[in-house]
Amino acid sequence: MKKTIVTIPGDGIGPEIVAEAVKILRTVASRFGHEFEFVPVLAGGSAIDATGVPLPRESLDACKAADAVLLGAVGGPKWDNLQPADLRPERGALLALRGGLGLFCNLRPSVLQPQLKGSCPLRADLIGDGLDIMVVRELTGGIYFGEHRRSEDGQSAWDVMKYSVPEIERIARKAFEVARRRRHKVTSLDKHNILETSRLWRETVTRIAADYPDVALNHLYVDNASMQLIRDPRQFDVILTENTFGDILSDEASMLAGSLGMLPSASLREDAFGLYEPVHGSAPDIAGRGVANPIATILSAGMMLRYSFGLQTEADAVDRAVSQVLDAGYRTGDIMTDGGLLVGTSEMGSRIAEALIP
Ligand code: IPM
Ligand code: MG
Repeated sequence: MKKTIVTIPGDGIGPEIVAEAVKILRTVASRFGHEFEFVPVLAGGSAIDATGVPLPRESLDACKAADAVLLGAVGGPKWDNLQPADLRPERGALLALRGGLGLFCNLRPSVLQPQLKGSCPLRADLIGDGLDIMVVRELTGGIYFGEHRRSEDGQSAWDVMKYSVPEIERIARKAFEVARRRRHKVTSLDKHNILETSRLWRETVTRIAADYPDVALNHLYVDNASMQLIRDPRQFDVILTENTFGDILSDEASMLAGSLGMLPSASLREDAFGLYEPVHGSAPDIAGRGVANPIATILSAGMMLRYSFGLQTEADAVDRAVSQVLDAGYRTGDIMTDGGLLVGTSEMGSRIAEALIP
């Protein structure tokens, strides 16, 4: 199989972790006889420094022409206060990529590897045999893409939260389809008691559910859900939610996996194209020191193999290689516990690459 992959190393720890995921994809290509061409492009703070804009036209065009995109992270204190806000890496690069590429469906699997039970902050009796939750976050609507304004006198501000029926329908269908390949349960989150968007959300999701009679649907208020996630996380299979709630809840869910450094994500649309990135950010405080955990990015590359290229065997091999290296005791600082073998970013990547070769 021949594929073109755009890489966006970005800022902070981005370049370090993307290098490790590329190492893994190259290993997969040689072991399984595929040809992956990597096209590095600029986006985020590094693009601002080099070109004056967070997402140069050529970068977006390169993504559009590729089969998939692998992104590290963008942003950092250096660019936090740029005006107008559209110049900042988060909005000007990340949201522009999500919106510009039409990536409305964000999958964030939160899986607690059995070897990392000690890193999960919950009690053993709450974890049981392990945790496996899939957050399906709507990614191109809601407040993130509504109007952001300040009044003339600067004394008030507003951000508009808006959803249309088709936007809710398509993400709901994705969630039900994902649930069909898992434990057949969708929990839809909203603030139905307060927000009109949530009323539309709940009505629409309920209507779409009729097409998936084999999947159980329940609704929770988002505040209750955030409590239930730490009270009884095993009640969840697929969590379906709008953009902002999904942003917040997926960080919470990530801690169930032991560390934000373990969480991959896929941003998808109706065709096979997708953008893959760790859920965590650019971690400027540890950038350049070779200590970041590359596993979230490596697992994101695995999701690329699975969702964009349909390479299930290869994707399973990546997941297994990560698990083997954890079994062998190797840990980056964020998941280090007593008796672990502390390794840096590059060694973690190399160990996982070695585990891929039989
Ligand atoms: C995420 C991040 C982004 C978001 C930021 C960096 C804009 O927190 O992917 O969860 O809010 O979506
Ligand atoms: Mg977030």
